[in-house]
Amino acid sequence: MRDFDLDSLLMRDDDVVARARYTSAEFAALEFERLWARVWQVACREEEISEVGDFCEYLIGDQSILVVRSAPDVVRAYHNTCLHRGTRLAEGDGHFDDECIRCRYHAWRYDLGGKLIDVVDPEEFAPMPEEVCLGQVRVDRWGGFVWVCLDPAALPLLEYLEPLPALLAPYHLDRMRIRAYLSTILPANWKVVVDAFNEGYHVQGTHPQILPWTDDVSLDYEPLGIHSHYGRLTNARRTLRPSPRLGLADGEYDEGEILAKFVEGLGGLFYDDERALIDEIRSTPSSDETLLSRYQKGRRQLLATRGVAVDGFADDQLTSADDVFFFPNMVGPIYPGTGIVFRVRPNGLDPDSSIKDTWFLEWPRQDTVPKRARRRFYPDWTERDWGLITNQDYSNMEHVQIGMKSRGPGLRLNRRQESNILHMHRMIDRYLTGP
Ligand code: FES
Ligand SMILES: [Fe+2]
Repeated sequence: MRDFDLDSLLMRDDDVVARARYTSAEFAALEFERLWARVWQVACREEEISEVGDFCEYLIGDQSILVVRSAPDVVRAYHNTCLHRGTRLAEGDGHFDDECIRCRYHAWRYDLGGKLIDVVDPEEFAPMPEEVCLGQVRVDRWGGFVWVCLDPAALPLLEYLEPLPALLAPYHLDRMRIRAYLSTILPANWKVVVDAFNEGYHVQGTHPQILPWTDDVSLDYEPLGIHSHYGRLTNARRTLRPSPRLGLADGEYDEGEILAKFVEGLGGLFYDDERALIDEIRSTPSSDETLLSRYQKGRRQLLATRGVAVDGFADDQLTSADDVFFFPNMVGPIYPGTGIVFRVRPNGLDPDSSIKDTWFLEWPRQDTVPKRARRRFYPDWTERDWGLITNQDYSNMEHVQIGMKSRGPGLRLNRRQESNILHMHRMIDRYLTGP
């Protein structure tokens, strides 16, 4: 094994990124010790543990954390290990019957608050303190997500997330529900996967088919504390034009076509009635108002009818995603009324493999009780058709990871369009080298 020299892998002023940050087992080990052990990370959606006694296991590296709803409005998190001989207490997700956690091995029992309540043959053990409890893990809730943090000294969740809670308040992520929950294993370092969803620079190389309806060049990128976001954020709100890379002049493209392809292409993020609205608008031309403005107004109406809180949005936000990166490992486009959120983490301790979970979120209809969506897991991503765009992204992963291992020079990133990736690396370094 080559010597591990962290200093040589840290970010420098020239923005060159050392490849070993993505491939080295030693670097990954340091990430577990200094990063994953100290950040707040999403363990599950709250709705996955909606009833008292429901639980979810969250795995990060070699750590298993058990998240339990112990009372209607109380969620607890524990190190998922029995205090007798260490057995994992629960795996996956499910429900603890009789409001108690029973170890499968020698049947010790704990209440949902983590207190040891039953030891078989207790007189044969050395005397125990009156109250013995499972190891607590910090847990908090925001945005409909349950977050955990292994570091007792970390900032409170809301401070850690700063300034995202205020930015995202109008979206009410807590009121959205899972429409689908898909997970898979990808053959690349967790950061390779996060990077692929944190920039628009690859659109021309990987998804050229969407250039006729996507202006990939005018996206804005902005750091937000340790987090970041991108999208049409400032005065460059969505206009109906193709990528400037195609060099088409006004009149050489059809705005109605672009709008239809955009809404169709992002199928999962628009509701059926919103797709139908396009045909209606295109078939009734108006000379007073642009197609886009009519669509935005129409969409506002349809979302309001569905019960979505739309007052906090300007018209142009109704057709523009905010692609938010929650440091270090959650990213995805959030729209009024819908969102797709990806959580990426190392697969065990392997620097070459990661687990990607995708939550498709939507606003539940007022007149229906949403069905609970079960997680569907694909150990091999090629077992499923993820749709053309995602298939293209996933196909790149192993080639990026294999290439990263080549002993070539460091990586040169685009300072504007890949600034969120550079920012992420700098924030990782802050954790790796900071107090
Ligand atoms: S290991 Fe849990 S009861 Fe023995
Ligand atoms: Fe992509």
